[in-house]
Amino acid sequence: MSANLSALAYLISSVCFILALQGLSSAKTSQRGLTLGIIGMILAVGTTLASPIVSSYGWIITGIIVGGIIGSFIAQKIQLTALPQLIAAFHSLVGLAAVCVAGAALLEPASFNLGQIGSIFRGSLVEMGLGVAIGAVTFTGSLVAFAKLQGLVSGNPLIFKGQHPLNAILLIGLVILIGLFAMTESHSLFWGITFISLLLGFLLILPIGGADMPVVISMLNSYSGWAAAGIGFTLANSLLIVTGALVGASGAILSYIMCKGMNRSIINIILGGFGGEQAAASQGRAEQRPYKVGSAEDAAFIMKNAKSVIIVPGYGMAVAQAQHALREMGDILTKEGVQVRYAIHPVAGRMPGHMNVLLAEAKVPYESVLELDEINRDFGQTDVAFVIGANDVTNPSAKTDPKSPIYGMPVLDVEKAKTVLFVKRSMSPGYAGVDNELFYQDNTLMLFGDAKKMCEEIIKALEE
Ligand code: TAP
Repeated sequence: MSANLSALAYLISSVCFILALQGLSSAKTSQRGLTLGIIGMILAVGTTLASPIVSSYGWIITGIIVGGIIGSFIAQKIQLTALPQLIAAFHSLVGLAAVCVAGAALLEPASFNLGQIGSIFRGSLVEMGLGVAIGAVTFTGSLVAFAKLQGLVSGNPLIFKGQHPLNAILLIGLVILIGLFAMTESHSLFWGITFISLLLGFLLILPIGGADMPVVISMLNSYSGWAAAGIGFTLANSLLIVTGALVGASGAILSYIMCKGMNRSIINIILGGFGGEQAAASQGRAEQRPYKVGSAEDAAFIMKNAKSVIIVPGYGMAVAQAQHALREMGDILTKEGVQVRYAIHPVAGRMPGHMNVLLAEAKVPYESVLELDEINRDFGQTDVAFVIGANDVTNPSAKTDPKSPIYGMPVLDVEKAKTVLFVKRSMSPGYAGVDNELFYQDNTLMLFGDAKKMCEEIIKALEE
């Protein structure tokens, strides 16, 4: 394929990726976005394979087959609730790829048109140093995020004395080493940069507590994009630079939006560990106060006689796969003349857009699904807040208790509804490990049980 033709194909792929991102920003257009992304990726891979610098196809085809089989197997098996850790694991591979490409370019610069061993272009050495550093931090950082989300290591912040000064020293050392490497092309300095960056990835993510994990994932997403852009510069591949920059920038914007959603400063999250002590202290503190327990029949009666119901879904709805039964319950209530709406918190569940995806899968009408900002002020005029498998995103301690690890996070004002129904299996806290004052409120009724089973029982009671 001629250089002009491949440049044109890369340009079309880039446009497809940009339009894919635009499409993915809304549930209505997401399928179109996904299709454009797939077309862009097929075109990009095809163009790269047709490039004259590809001298043999054996390893490439083997890689595509093995990777394709593993990817398809994982995609079939994976539960939606385990997607965040899967994404973290995939990010780690992007980081590792950046490290491998930078290493290969250092050992075989002529193959990458970067000059000869001993006289690699200065600019390329800077790109290699930065690429390997970002790649290695992304690799180990993503592995730690994966292990935390998968429950292989504790989700609590792991904090030790002198952590921040140590990170600062490593970071300064890293910048100096990259400068020295660009001047000397020393292989030992290159491996030194790799080692320090791997260590830094561990140290940066270990102290970050569970409640901040969503931001970490999207930050690592952003890093993996910049690492890919770095590889693009090394390989002089314009598409990789554009795609990497798109991923890097969108990941950074998503991190910003989530920080705003949780009222956390990105600097505090990156430095890690702040608020962790309180999180650890409030965990396991069993409350022994009275609370009211209701049944599916009670819930059916209360909701049937309500004018308006706001459903607040959370992680437990995803675990129970209750979205279809929930939609059915909503449909019956709507037929009875009740106004039914769904309130979505930006970090409900375990990944950005988790609840939107599940409700869209269950064919809940888009117009009745509202974001926190759009619906929060309506709880005061609502008869029933039906909280299903959600906990942290409703916890008023985020507004009232400065010691709470979730203090400052905007939450759904469900306590303002006339009646609050809480569907969950026990009095256990949610992801952040914080007790929820709402369970003990006068207008709260706890509905203990699996979310899907409870919805099915309520449907039965409504139909009777
Ligand atoms: P959580 O606060 O984690 O609460 C979920 C509740 O669901 C739990 O209290 C649990 O109580 C209940 N539950 C679990 N399985 C259930 C089942 N089968 N049936 C019924 N209930 C069940 O969830 P949330 O309110 O959605 O808040 C999300 C939390 O996750 C936030 O702290 C957020 O920071 C964090 N997080 C979010 C993300 C993203 S990007 N969304 C990523 C990582 C972490 P029982 O055990 O008593 O049933």
